[in-house]
Amino acid sequence: MLDFDYYNPTHIVFGQNRLAELDKLIPSDAKVMITFGGQSAKKFGTIDKVREGLQSRSVVEFGGIEPNPRYETLMRAVEIAQKEGVDFLLAVGGGSVMDGTKFIALAAKKDSEHHNLLFHGFTPVPEKEALPLGCVATLPATGSEMNMAGVITYNEQKYPFMSPLVYPTFSFLDPDFTFTLPKEQIANGVADAFVHVIEQYLTVPVNAKIQDRFAEGVLKTLIEDGPVTYRDNDNIEARKNFIWSATSALNGVIGVGVPQDWSTHMIGHEMTAMYGIAHGRTLAIILPHLLRERKAKKYEKLVQFAERVWAITDGTDDEKINMAIDKTEAFFNSLDIVTNITHYGIDDNGIETIVNNMEKMGLTALSESGDLTLDIVKKILIAAK
Ligand code: NZQ
Ligand code: ZN
Repeated sequence: MLDFDYYNPTHIVFGQNRLAELDKLIPSDAKVMITFGGQSAKKFGTIDKVREGLQSRSVVEFGGIEPNPRYETLMRAVEIAQKEGVDFLLAVGGGSVMDGTKFIALAAKKDSEHHNLLFHGFTPVPEKEALPLGCVATLPATGSEMNMAGVITYNEQKYPFMSPLVYPTFSFLDPDFTFTLPKEQIANGVADAFVHVIEQYLTVPVNAKIQDRFAEGVLKTLIEDGPVTYRDNDNIEARKNFIWSATSALNGVIGVGVPQDWSTHMIGHEMTAMYGIAHGRTLAIILPHLLRERKAKKYEKLVQFAERVWAITDGTDDEKINMAIDKTEAFFNSLDIVTNITHYGIDDNGIETIVNNMEKMGLTALSESGDLTLDIVKKILIAAK
């Protein structure tokens, strides 16, 4: 196992009807900005319940944070937060709202050069302060509710940023707020969480037993309860397990002390930026093709994945790996996610543009070993046609 630090200060409030507890979690004299997306949080009454929980606190609302949140939108919120003297941010929504709110938290403490927050990649931004924030999560997928990351669209490109200052102080995970999700968002969420685990687990072995077994447990839970939640909107027990799987997939626990990949995400971000394909879906499209291409590099962990996650015990190691990748692809297909790029309108020109954009973004040496070059990205995309 590699050396690591582990720090995660987010208080999770899991369960139904707990919003009254907002009152103890936010200072009573705080001026709160509630941030939300297009319409779901308003339309389905979540904002009303949140406002009740906030009692007599002074509140400013900022709606309209779009999926794949845009810098310009968030800067409008920053202006209002600064002008109104907001001192606590409360995100009500999915990954886009939570990520956008993290950006607002950092940007509200800066007077200029806000876009520079986006140019540090996976290295934490150098900022020294941020507004505190909390979340009411309405879409299980990204893990944003319990991590220090965000992804923002700037100049039609997606930029990740990190800062320990933007760990949510608390996050409410109430299954009731997720019943209104369209089916395809459940599928996207299952795929996103699944690939989050894979990016941290399916690399090279370093004898990190806890992380491996925890990762395998999350994958098996997603395989078991993801499709149940997808098909049966009323199964609350499956839904609860899916929700906690999505949070556990990217709250840091399984990623400590192990090599990490993230190539599937980097290719996927480009597909979202250029073609507007939902984040989770891009990952499900790319992952099976990437695993086939990188079989030799990930050989030992692929065998472990086949045996422990998919319970494939017969056959040669090679056969086990092939079957595990096929089962993974079939799992995504079972959620009605088509796993070829032609279906989404990406042709040979599209492949060229994706690769060129990745070059412009400096994404030329991906994976746990830094040797996944753009030639290989192109091969993966061609295999995904
Ligand atoms: O805008 P509204 O009207 O609220 O509708 C949203 C949106 O259209 C809707 N929605 C959310 N909760 C709902 C609901 N509809 C009905 N009922 C509810 N309860 O769902 C749509 C998609 O929402 P979005 O927040 O965009 O989805 P998701 O949670 O998948 O977030 C995706 C974003 O997270 C980033 C992605 O890049 C993308 O920008 N990621 C963030 C990560 C992180 N912070 O660690 C890691 C991820 O890998 C990912 O990159
Ligand atoms: Zn993701």
